Amino acid sequence: MNRRHNRYCASEEWRDLMVGKVLPWVLEGVDLSGPVLELGPGPGLVTEALVRYGVEDLTSLEIEPGAADRLRDRYGSRVRVMTGDATDMPFEAGAFSTIVCCTMLHHVPTVAAQNAVLGEAHRVIRPGGVMAGSDSRRNLRLWFFHTFDTYNPIDPADFTPRARAAGFADVEMETVDDTFRFRAGA
Ligand SMILES: C[S@@+](CC[C@H](N)C(=O)[O-])C[C@H]1O[C@@H](n2cnc3c(N)ncnc32)[C@H](O)[C@@H]1O
Repeated sequence: MNRRHNRYCASEEWRDLMVGKVLPWVLEGVDLSGPVLELGPGPGLVTEALVRYGVEDLTSLEIEPGAADRLRDRYGSRVRVMTGDATDMPFEAGAFSTIVCCTMLHHVPTVAAQNAVLGEAHRVIRPGGVMAGSDSRRNLRLWFFHTFDTYNPIDPADFTPRARAAGFADVEMETVDDTFRFRAGA
């Protein structure tokens, strides 16, 4: 992420929006009692919320080594922070019962790589598990905000067919204003 974006993802403004509004909507009714995988934690506001929600078995997978190191320093053994690429996850099939994926997919540079993330998510989630997440719809303000950064937003209308093609059977998608949330059941 560029520095401005990184700062924003750690800001009180983002906390109010993501943790205060979007995350409760994303996680409404989602079972967090089994092993949970978070994709793309960045500065970690969602990680922090998942810990506060009482998720006992939490793994966070982050592609940027510096961001992963900072989270590791912060959480020690409380969260298993892994440096790695969600297009090729370093986990056994069926390792997780829930995947949380917020504001991450638009940072994955190509449609093929995003589809690989969905395919890997389906592989590492156990039958009956769910992938829940959110992202932003394409808009000019966000495009500008991602100068010198990856910006490849998914069209919400495409999410369901792409998640089904990745193997998820039961997919829901809902849009409010500039944000969409999704649930994909394995
Ligand atoms: C905008 S931040 C989102 C932070 C947090 N999830 C939130 O919603 O506040 C997106 C994060 O996804 C990470 N990311 C992008 N591509 C990834 C990949 N292929 N595998 C794992 N993490 C990735 C980025 O490095 C960045 O830290």
